[in-house]
Amino acid sequence: MTVKTFFYGLIASFGLPWLIMLAVPFGTMRSLESPRFDEVNDESTALYAPTRGGRTENGSLIYAQEGCAMCHSQVTRPSYAGNDVFREGQGGTKKNPERGDTRRITNAWDFSNGEKRAHIGESRIGPDLGNFGNRLDALASSENHKAAAAVGLELEKDGVPLTPMQIAVALGDKAFDKELYVYKHLYKPRKENPTDKRQEKHWSVCQSNPQFFTKTGNYGQGAVDAVAVKCDKQVVPNDNCRAIVSYLINLKKDGAVPYAMQYSKDKKKAGK
Ligand code: HEC
Repeated sequence: MTVKTFFYGLIASFGLPWLIMLAVPFGTMRSLESPRFDEVNDESTALYAPTRGGRTENGSLIYAQEGCAMCHSQVTRPSYAGNDVFREGQGGTKKNPERGDTRRITNAWDFSNGEKRAHIGESRIGPDLGNFGNRLDALASSENHKAAAAVGLELEKDGVPLTPMQIAVALGDKAFDKELYVYKHLYKPRKENPTDKRQEKHWSVCQSNPQFFTKTGNYGQGAVDAVAVKCDKQVVPNDNCRAIVSYLINLKKDGAVPYAMQYSKDKKKAGK
């Protein structure tokens, strides 16, 4: 091999990936214009521009800082690249009580929502979190139905079924606490005994996050969001933890998109 071919090879092996993975996507995505809804199919001409703000934005920065994106993606891939849309809860919900089928693939605009970083993710060691908020809502709803059955709560009023929110309100402190569920997960994802196979998630490799919690004295009735209590001490989430949990429970990438971008262009099917 001559020195010249060696250098050509070197340029090609670094230059091509740079071109394909950085230059081309940057060129095509840097000035994305928001797509418009279509008058005929969507009966609206608004712009599709998802936004997010406040505490969820702080939570997004903490998500970045903790490296959660190393193991968790936030992308529902198109069908030619995977079976994502059809995985339960991954690309949205099949039977959303208000909107019907909300499943769809993730698009570039989902990331132009004011978040400083697009947490696309490095790998999928953990489950995709793009629609974690929806999965959590589904879990809360099913747990609340169980609790309602246990206390004999009527799920209908004057023939109209109660909404998930009304059921939660009626259950009071017996209702499923979404925040507490995620606090507990972040505190100790792997349940007590890693060798006991009967224990749910004895195998989890999600990181535990002691940096999100502080130990305080346990006085009176104790904190409602304590993840662990031992004698006169309790472990409570700190501000960073509250911010990242607000972010996580709001993760929903299933907003209505213009007809042209729907995974199922059959409108009747998409609306079911
Ligand atoms: C080493 C890889 C890894 C890292 C880093 C990681 N996770 Fe996980 N995560 C997992 C795995 C594996 C699971 C599935 C097992 C489980 O639920 O515990 C999971 C599950 C989860 C779940 C529950 C998902 C569901 O659908 O039930 C949440 C929420 C979560 N992780 C949040 C985080 C956050 C927030 C961070 C950053 C602070 C993080 N993870 C960092 C691997 C990881």
